Amino acid sequence: MAGELRAAIAGTGFVGAVHARSARLAGALLAGVAASSEESAAAAASRLGAERSFGSAEAMVEAEGIDVVHICTPNHLHLPLAEAALQAGKHVICEKPLALDAEGAERLVKTAAEAGRQATVPFIYRYYPTVREARERVRDGRTGAVRLLHGTYLQDWLLSPEDHNWRVEEELGGASRAFADIGSHWCDLAEFVSGHRIARLSARVATAHPERRQSGTETFGRAGGDRGELHRVRTEDAAVVQFETDGGALGTVVVSQVAPGRKNRLWLEVDGAEEAIAFDQEAPELLWCGRREAATLLPRDAEALSPAAARYVTLPAGHPEGYADCFDAFVAEAYRAIQTGEAIEGLPVFADGLRAARITEAVLASARAQAWVQVDDAASGPGAAGGDAVVEVGG
Ligand SMILES: NC(=O)c1ccc[n+]([C@@H]2O[C@H](COP(=O)([O-])OP(=O)(O)OC[C@H]3O[C@@H](n4cnc5c(N)ncnc54)[C@H](O)[C@@H]3O)[C@@H](O)[C@H]2O)c1
Repeated sequence: MAGELRAAIAGTGFVGAVHARSARLAGALLAGVAASSEESAAAAASRLGAERSFGSAEAMVEAEGIDVVHICTPNHLHLPLAEAALQAGKHVICEKPLALDAEGAERLVKTAAEAGRQATVPFIYRYYPTVREARERVRDGRTGAVRLLHGTYLQDWLLSPEDHNWRVEEELGGASRAFADIGSHWCDLAEFVSGHRIARLSARVATAHPERRQSGTETFGRAGGDRGELHRVRTEDAAVVQFETDGGALGTVVVSQVAPGRKNRLWLEVDGAEEAIAFDQEAPELLWCGRREAATLLPRDAEALSPAAARYVTLPAGHPEGYADCFDAFVAEAYRAIQTGEAIEGLPVFADGLRAARITEAVLASARAQAWVQVDDAASGPGAAGGDAVVEVGG
């Protein structure tokens, strides 16, 4: 029973608060929170209704009386905190990216297996009923063979050189910013829906602002009045990737955090031989299904969807569900895996986080080499950024 779980949250910013809500709704007790300082942890404990605050995330992940730790800090802390939590016998829900590179993510996959704990990653877009419906239509053959995967993930909250966030800094966010942060969600979704794996890719990245002012923008916020120092930016604002899959499909994705007017536009189209399907994260109540004779908009209605999709519907059609509902469904499923030991099909686990890290490394390697690269898909071994991974094609 989820009611027996005692959850703790490290990092209480944008997504930490979303996790706290989902943990509660899944019936867990919010046993503790940790933030960047003792004072901010105490304030967050009272804001989120946690039993107590901890002086540091390091102390919290080792504390008695906690079953599951949610890691929602800036990226550079994911690996050390997840590793310490697993070694202390906790189950872990760790935000993406799992680590700053694929080697770190691989270490976490091994640590979780050795610890025998549940280790999941919030690729929560998998939890839209319309996404599950798209996946079912590919799986049961209604789309026919998948030929093309294409789409975008566009945001504008880092549009101006005055906009800043810890994600911009390589040491805190990792060598890839826009792609690791949001492109990884798109690739996870494209692979999840199509059942294909991205086998090789060619990428270009762009940094719109070579310098930004360290103005401390909150996630999805606007630059405040404090005009910090200008500093050099080494992470990308945008990426364009074309790829081939192991199932013989071609694809493209455009990722940007400087796309004016776009807030969280994850859009994915799967073109099959018989039917194409398009999912738009900002309009997730309707799934576009295109056939030669007619295109239809399928509503998120339990009666209209396949059973595999209908089971994620929580409200009657016409009463919109959204991002937070996906988070709730993901956390409830992660907790069920913890409590039953069940391997739940479709639940994103650390291996999926490692997969995202490998695709990200391939994107950076390709952009550096201006060449096609193979995406490393091995359970272990060198990442795609390794020297011999670069494959020249077609001159
Ligand atoms: N799965 C998703 O849909 C999704 C959405 C948003 C963010 N994320 C991921 O979640 C993580 C957090 O992102 P965010 O947007 O919430 O960022 P944020 O800046 O809003 O929050 C980060 C929080 O971590 C805290 N923090 C900083 N140093 C800390 C430390 N040493 N110990 C404990 N806490 C510390 C900060 O005080 C802040 O509250 C990132 O890794 C991001 O990639 C995932």
